[in-house]
Amino acid sequence: MVDRLFSDAALVELYDVLCPWEQRGDLDFYLELVMSAKAVLDVGCGTGALLHRAREIGHAGRLCGLDPANAMLDVARTRSDIEWIHGDLDAVAPTRRRRRGTRDRRPPSPTPAAALPASSWGPFALP
Ligand SMILES: C[S@@+](CC[C@H](N)C(=O)[O-])C[C@H]1O[C@@H](n2cnc3c(N)ncnc32)[C@H](O)[C@@H]1O
Repeated sequence: MVDRLFSDAALVELYDVLCPWEQRGDLDFYLELVMSAKAVLDVGCGTGALLHRAREIGHAGRLCGLDPANAMLDVARTRSDIEWIHGDLDAVAPTRRRRRGTRDRRPPSPTPAAALPASSWGPFALP
């Protein structure tokens, strides 16, 4: 379920105003990583500020933002040269391949969402 902070359009309008780039310590750090990758998936992209900035300063590769909150994505979609996906990382089931006839003895792995605390979601380089 999407938190009201991210689903209420009136609150979302305030998000980038109350959390401006300049007052945050994380975005410059992530921007450097994004710029060094050819293709990036930003999980929990929110209003898309990180990918917007990457495109503005010349990232020419594939940029993709994923978020379950439509109100956040509505702001992100003000740029159409980036892919925006309405999706929820919690809905991604762990997948595992094994050869026919063999038993998988590994313990069940946690879902990606369980493996990563929400605060550590962010941009991933895509293959
Ligand atoms: C605090 S905001 C951060 C937005 C953006 N990454 C930023 O740094 O400004 C957290 C975002 O994660 C999204 N989110 C929450 N649960 C999620 C999930 N299960 N899968 C993907 N995104 C999720 C929320 O909708 C929200 O937009």
